Amino acid sequence: VPMTAFTEDVKKHKYAVGQFNLNNLEFTQAITEAAMEEKSPVIFGVSEGALKYMGLDYTVAIAKVAAERSGVPVALHLDHGSNFDIVMKCIRAGFSSVMFDGSHHSFEDNIRLTKQVVEAAHAVGVSVEGELGTIGGVEDDLSVDEEDATLANPDEAIRFWEETKVDYVAIAVGTAHGMYKGEPKIRFDIIEKVASNIGAPIVLHGGSGVPDEAIVKSISLGVGKINVNTESQVACTETVRKVLAAKPNEIDPRKYLGPARDAIKEVVRGKMRLFGSSNRA
Ligand code: G3H
Ligand code: ZN
Repeated sequence: VPMTAFTEDVKKHKYAVGQFNLNNLEFTQAITEAAMEEKSPVIFGVSEGALKYMGLDYTVAIAKVAAERSGVPVALHLDHGSNFDIVMKCIRAGFSSVMFDGSHHSFEDNIRLTKQVVEAAHAVGVSVEGELGTIGGVEDDLSVDEEDATLANPDEAIRFWEETKVDYVAIAVGTAHGMYKGEPKIRFDIIEKVASNIGAPIVLHGGSGVPDEAIVKSISLGVGKINVNTESQVACTETVRKVLAAKPNEIDPRKYLGPARDAIKEVVRGKMRLFGSSNRA
């Protein structure tokens, strides 16, 4: 489904749908099983880096099987799409949702380029997420130094939505991609001002490592989608390390990827409960 399928319920019942990034088959299975057991809507996020790793055709095929099997609403969403071409490739291949991240362009260019994406995507029923301000940290090929990370200007974010009419608006409010060094300082005032002046839910990127209370407060102010990747990756890799440390002679990948998959699933389940999306499918 496009992410617009979630919008009304998210606003009415004040919760957020989680975007969990796909890194491989085991991630897809873990996220799907958590969504099934939690009876939660879910967004499969696929970054350009993940597309390169998994292949566009494999990604769509695996996501399609997972969505059909799940019995819950699933959006297959391009994460941080950097240009019009990649957006169109994903739409043609079967993505139901795309993010166009024009945050590294000037404000006016971001509006102009995002509008082009919205026009093409909406024509075929695909939802669009845009981004304003730059989110710091590292995610795949996307890397923004702390000093270059800029918070979203609320007035610009409101105008951005008015002009582009994107379905979801990601704004930089102090979270970062990857692991945090300290505790993130989230600008709730920016979330509140933007959310109360636009018709679309706000997206919180860099959802890993954000304290639970901050997540709950963000949702109460208008965040309707939260992206999580790093915490799932950490759970996965720590489990693999643990299994291999205990059994250095293990050679069967299923013996360490199986437990890793279970660990990812528990992270996702916990986030669904925290975000309030459990039992909303
Ligand atoms: O776009 C994806 C995310 O914003 C994930 O951020 O890896 O810090 O959880 P994270
Ligand atoms: Zn992100």
